[in-house]
Amino acid sequence: MTDASALPLHIGFIMDGNGRWAKARGLARPFGHEAGAKTFEKTVDSCRKLGIRYATFYAFSTENQSRPKDEIDALMALFDRYADDIYRRVKNDELKTYENVRIRFIGDKTYFSESRRKKIADIENLNIDKDIRLTVCIALNYGGRNEIVNAVNGFIAENPGKPLTERDISSRLYAPDVPDPDLIIRTAGEMRLSNFLLWQSAYAEFYSTSVYWPDFSEDDLKKAIDSFMNRTRKFGGISK
Ligand code: IPE
Ligand code: IPE
Ligand code: MG
Repeated sequence: MTDASALPLHIGFIMDGNGRWAKARGLARPFGHEAGAKTFEKTVDSCRKLGIRYATFYAFSTENQSRPKDEIDALMALFDRYADDIYRRVKNDELKTYENVRIRFIGDKTYFSESRRKKIADIENLNIDKDIRLTVCIALNYGGRNEIVNAVNGFIAENPGKPLTERDISSRLYAPDVPDPDLIIRTAGEMRLSNFLLWQSAYAEFYSTSVYWPDFSEDDLKKAIDSFMNRTRKFGGISK
């Protein structure tokens, strides 16, 4: 169990506000997503420097499929570009950001084309032989309810008629070996989970900042971590 005075082992990021960031600058929404992708890379670097062991980034929710086709196409094109770039740079040892970092994807991959799924698998296989300091999970076409339903259906298919335990669900999530998040940070002032890590966040500490995701800085991350370290986590018990 994480001690409140210790660093969070796992931080979840709900990267929100790209559209509003662009609008405030008189730009089209895709520019906000471009800027947000840069902030993602900077935040991975900050997590690595600060000694965070796991970070999950909410990039595209199952509900985001309801956005206009233009916006989804722009997001997927951005993903493809970044995926190719990350793959090439890690392969060529060109960038410190991903040194000793393992990237994984959580979400419903059946939504993606064969070539995008191949890209995802190639990235997941990078650095697997290295000493891993930070595991980055990218939640792409991810929905917490969808994840739980898949886990339950998987259990039922293997154990028809048997009652299910919490362990049966947690062991069938997209990244079952990743510990539950200790801290969830949401940008752009919203105070909701929007279907993010529903099962895993049962006892996560929530932190909201009004900063739009493209402007989220290492200082903002440190503020969130400080807030976390000053809280008392009780897990249903009583304070000491
Ligand atoms: C977050 O920014 C990125 C995704 C959900 C893909 P938004 O696109 O939700 O930005 P706002 O909330 O409209 O400002
Ligand atoms: C949550 O942001 C999803 C991601 C950050 C990918 P949204 O912008 O989609 O959430 P709502 O619609 O404001 O709840
Ligand atoms: Mg939003």
